[in-house]
Amino acid sequence: MPAISASAPGKAILFGEHAVVYQRPAIAVPVHQVRAKAVVMARPGAPSGEVWIDAPGIGLNTRLDELPEQHPFRTLIQLLKQAMGLPHLPALHLHITSTIPLAAGLGSGAAVSVAMLRSLSAFLGHPLADQQVCELSYEAEKYYHGTPSGIDNTVITYSQPILFTRGQPYQILPVGGQFTLIIADSGIQSSTAEMVQGVRQRYEQAVETYEARFDAMAALVEKARHAIQKAQLELLGQLMNTNHQLLQQIGVSTPQLDELVRVAGQAGALGAKLSGAGGGGNIIALAPQERVDSIQAALRQAGSSRTLVSHIHPTVANR
Ligand code: MEV
Repeated sequence: MPAISASAPGKAILFGEHAVVYQRPAIAVPVHQVRAKAVVMARPGAPSGEVWIDAPGIGLNTRLDELPEQHPFRTLIQLLKQAMGLPHLPALHLHITSTIPLAAGLGSGAAVSVAMLRSLSAFLGHPLADQQVCELSYEAEKYYHGTPSGIDNTVITYSQPILFTRGQPYQILPVGGQFTLIIADSGIQSSTAEMVQGVRQRYEQAVETYEARFDAMAALVEKARHAIQKAQLELLGQLMNTNHQLLQQIGVSTPQLDELVRVAGQAGALGAKLSGAGGGGNIIALAPQERVDSIQAALRQAGSSRTLVSHIHPTVANR
């Protein structure tokens, strides 16, 4: 049987991270320049049911049943077996690679889950529908970070710019004209689970203040969706700056992220903000086409470990 592979993109949250955990809307886009890939191969001669996993990027090379029971890979494969009604799998080898930086707010966990589900289900002869991929990868997200909103697995599964509210069907985001983002890594890893938990603790100490901040983020999302639809880039940039200030107020920015946001603005970005859980990871900057190179150079100069350029193309709305 030939090897079967599948891959999935990274993601960036444009507006509304953290507030989305509290049922506010958020906007996210896929980032195709970085991807997770899973390759499934048969292991002729190996005992039936023996699944071998190697993921060199995280130093994993082991039999599946040697992983802790709560390990997300083990959980995901268990969920897949249940969904497909399979008591056990044939002997197989699963090779996982990813160019998505880990713990950087770009959705590496969800992308690995989506690539694994698609490659394994295709190998087993019944490729899962997108909705199943999305639902099962959401379950695995819970093992990565406790109370996920579901935005990461949704934008990565459907691989389109989306407007997302927890517990509701996602909407494809109408994009009226192309715009360009620079994604700059602070080089500092951070745990989404810890960042989300930190916000929860501060929220519980000051519920009204945090509710008001999340409402302000939701209002930005509403304005941003119109700005994106009408390709009003200057306004979009201002909204990003305001979103960053709100993220500072809920305690998820850091001096390094603030500095990268400041440098991007100084180098000519129309706006910038941290993206994802914060505490490290990436910022995104909205770049006029003629400034892309100089903004990237300024961000590298200011200590960014890696910059990516992502063009967001016009979409057709599904509703
Ligand atoms: C993580 O990519 C985004 C957060 O809003 C958490 C979540 O939505 O699950 C911080």
